[in-house]
Amino acid sequence: MNTALTSSPEEAARYINRGRLVAFPTETVYGLGADITSTAALESIFKAKGRPSDNPLIVHISSPARIREVAATVTPEAEKLIEKFFPGPLTLILPRQPWISDLVTAGRSTVGVRCPSNPLTREFLSCCTHPVAAPSANISGRPSSTDWHSVQQDLQGRIDCILKGSASAIGLESTIVDCSSPVPMLLRQGAVSLETLQEVLPSIKASTRHNSSQKAPLSPGQKYPHYAPRAQVILFDTGTGPTAVIPQNAAYIGTAQPPDGFRKVLRCPDLDTYAHNLFRFFRECDRQGIGTICCQRPPSSGIGRALQDRIERAAEPR
Ligand code: TXA
Ligand code: MG
Repeated sequence: MNTALTSSPEEAARYINRGRLVAFPTETVYGLGADITSTAALESIFKAKGRPSDNPLIVHISSPARIREVAATVTPEAEKLIEKFFPGPLTLILPRQPWISDLVTAGRSTVGVRCPSNPLTREFLSCCTHPVAAPSANISGRPSSTDWHSVQQDLQGRIDCILKGSASAIGLESTIVDCSSPVPMLLRQGAVSLETLQEVLPSIKASTRHNSSQKAPLSPGQKYPHYAPRAQVILFDTGTGPTAVIPQNAAYIGTAQPPDGFRKVLRCPDLDTYAHNLFRFFRECDRQGIGTICCQRPPSSGIGRALQDRIERAAEPR
């Protein structure tokens, strides 16, 4: 299959409207989109990514007002979050409209909905006839793509078109909040932090990370290994305690000055830059044959929680 590259949101939308697969930028990570009414296109998402079919897709809408096309009920809690964080890096889980395909929801009674804020994304979505179902645009289990080169690396020849935009500003996937039951639940950490959510919804609960003894994780994606480069990933504490032994052929990413001895170092001025660069750094390290990636342990607040979640999951034994 020939994969077209375009900078035109209208052209990319024409592919979607013809039932084809298009990777597109958002402020979180790049998505791999299909028209939600096209069964064949939805099936080909799972094929292109090697994605398990029991992992539901997020539906992307061009404006907050369109949420009722996909969600049957918008709870008062969801209304508050929409008011404050849409468009933006937040996905809401809500009761689904009955017409939404089981391929999108993996047969659940709920649907994940997001309205991205990136202007190019919104223009693209507004040229699509229907809302667009999209997981992250990477081979399943690999780090999410935060620029179009990474999309090409993973999906060239497997999808119809890539909409070229700038690198994703945030660089980590959206925050996911389940508003389908009375107590809203934070399912995935992201740029909209727990602290910010608590200001709007004091009752919100954070779900504990999935472990294999749990039978049914609330968000199916949580049970799969994720975000993993080929290199071994280690959460690394700088500064305190006895001087750590630096592994051979290792790279470092973090905000603090690392000890000497790393082959490759990316020191970020702040946590947002750390988040913006993490997945791209993972991919770069793999290309350079790095054996171990030491990620400075982020603080457990703000976007630090999302960073810590992605790093811990990348570090899980495989
Ligand atoms: O930032 C993002 O969210 C990106 C961009 C492209 O929007 N998308 C993304 O999609 O990260 P994906 O498929 O990699 O992750 C979606 C997560 C999965 O963990 C999935 O299980 C969960 O959302 N999810 C989707 N629909 C759900 C539902 N109805 N109930 C619970 N979890 C759901
Ligand atoms: Mg993903």
